[in-house]
Amino acid sequence: MTKFRLFVLALLLAPAFAWASEGAEMESAHIDLGDKASLQRGAGLYMSYCSGCHSLGYQRYSRMAEDLGLTQEQVEQNLIYSDAKFGETIRSSLDAGDGLAWFGKAPPDLSVEARAKAQGADWIYNYLKSFYVDEARPMGWNNSVFPGASMPHVLWELQGVQHAVTEPKHKNAKGEAEPCHKGEYQGACIVGFEIPEAQKGRMTEEEYDHAARDISAFLAYVGEPAAIQRESIGAWVVLFLALFTFLAYLLKSEYWRDVH
Ligand code: HEC
Repeated sequence: MTKFRLFVLALLLAPAFAWASEGAEMESAHIDLGDKASLQRGAGLYMSYCSGCHSLGYQRYSRMAEDLGLTQEQVEQNLIYSDAKFGETIRSSLDAGDGLAWFGKAPPDLSVEARAKAQGADWIYNYLKSFYVDEARPMGWNNSVFPGASMPHVLWELQGVQHAVTEPKHKNAKGEAEPCHKGEYQGACIVGFEIPEAQKGRMTEEEYDHAARDISAFLAYVGEPAAIQRESIGAWVVLFLALFTFLAYLLKSEYWRDVH
């Protein structure tokens, strides 16, 4: 290969490597913004478990209803937990000052959370799956994706109570401890989690994964409501391009018929 070709190849592959090194330990959430049922379940879980502390300041209940295919009645009966009106934005019931006093950190607005993280919705998915018991933390919980997070594990009744499984840190040739891939707990590397039989949650592991995925998908939608429309337009654009290519091919055959 010529140097130039190698250079082009390297350019093309660079983003893939950059991405791989950044998100190496993240599991994909496999969200599907075209799956309305998943987004609706995510909205339901969000309203019952998250909206008490986190607002969605850029999202109105009415817009959400329209995008997710829900009626005003369904939203008012099942998704509005406060005295908010249908046309209002989704505020949390928590006063910012109280949040600061109770958690040492005011729970942030999550409107653009999925966009704020490099790994997008996958980050939220992994975060929701990575809470574990840590008595040294004020809330009794820590998180391997967000070490020292001041948010308690609000979904523990669903998931169960996770405990960190650790291994001593690996040493390199010089005898220095290497960094842990999944975070550390009490000076050792976290290699996984386990849920003791007596502390199992209401959901199986698979059900909990789906719940975490639905919430992540909902927050990805909230971060970019127009993405739903864009995905459906995208399919038509691809179809149009395919059709256009075919027509161009026919035209070309027609033009060249007499030449050959
Ligand atoms: C009891 C209050 C409370 C509830 C309920 C709650 N959170 Fe949080 N959350 C917090 C606090 C406090 C923080 C700030 C943590 C920090 O910065 O240390 C936070 C942080 C976060 C972050 C990280 C924000 C960042 O800094 O990038 C995400 C994502 C998040 N919460 C998602 C959720 C989801 C999803 C739910 C519902 C399943 C939820 N939270 C329920 C209190 C709460």
